[in-house]
Amino acid sequence: MRIAFITDLHIGLEGEDTYGVDVRANFLNALETARAFNPDLMVLGGDLCYSEGDERVYHWVKARMDEQGIPYEVIGGNHDITALLAGVFYPHYTLYDNCLFFTREIGRRKLLFLDTVAGEISPTQMLWLEEQLASTSGELVVFMHHPPVLAGVPFMDQRYALVNWQEVWRLFLAFPFPIHIFTGHYHVDKVIRRQSVTVYLTPSCFFQIDPHAEPFKVDHYRIGFREIEWDAEGIMTTVRYL
Ligand SMILES: [Fe+2]
Repeated sequence: MRIAFITDLHIGLEGEDTYGVDVRANFLNALETARAFNPDLMVLGGDLCYSEGDERVYHWVKARMDEQGIPYEVIGGNHDITALLAGVFYPHYTLYDNCLFFTREIGRRKLLFLDTVAGEISPTQMLWLEEQLASTSGELVVFMHHPPVLAGVPFMDQRYALVNWQEVWRLFLAFPFPIHIFTGHYHVDKVIRRQSVTVYLTPSCFFQIDPHAEPFKVDHYRIGFREIEWDAEGIMTTVRYL
C-alpha cells in the first residue's frame, strides 16, 4: 500500500497575505508530485487553514482532493475547527468530545486517524485509542497532527507540544507491536524511535522551522511531503522535497 502524507497546508482566504508564501500553489504542487507516486491513499495531516478553521478553505481543498480521483482522509490540526472540517469532509460522522477520530481498514491493515485540534487527546478519544490498540496485534499506522512526544525542537516543544503527550506516549509504548505514527505540526523533517514506536515528523507546505533555534526562526521555504510504502516487510518512508 502506498500513502502520500501532505501536511500543514496553512491555506488562507482568497487574497489573504500568508507571509508572502503562495500556499495554494504550494499545495497544488505537492498534490501533483504526490499523484506521480501513485498512492492508494492520500492523507492531509491537519492545519489546512492559515490561522483559523474556515469552511471556504475546506471547500476549496475538498474540491482539489476530489479532482484527484484517489481515496483520501483528512485530520485536523490546531489551526482548524473540527466541527467545520467534519461538516465539509465527513458530514455523516458523529463527533465525540467535539473530536473527529476514526479507523480505516485497507486490505487487512489498520490505520488510525486522531484529532488533536484542541492541542490534546480528549478523554473519550483516549479510551477509544486504548481499545483500538488493545484489539490490534500486527503492525499499526497512526496519523495525528501533533507528535505524541517531545521532538527536540525547542521552539515547538516549549510552546506547542501536545498537552497530554506523556499520557499518550505511555499508552503507545505499552504495546509490543510496531506502531508507526505520522505527524505534522512541527514543520520539520525528523524521526523519533523508542521501543516499538516510531514517530515520523513531516515538513509542511508553508515553511520549515529551524529545529535548533530558540526563539523562532524559519529554516527554509522548500516544501515537502511524505511518501509511505507499507508492505509485508514493513514500512519504507521518505520525505519528498519539491
Ligand atoms: Fe500545527
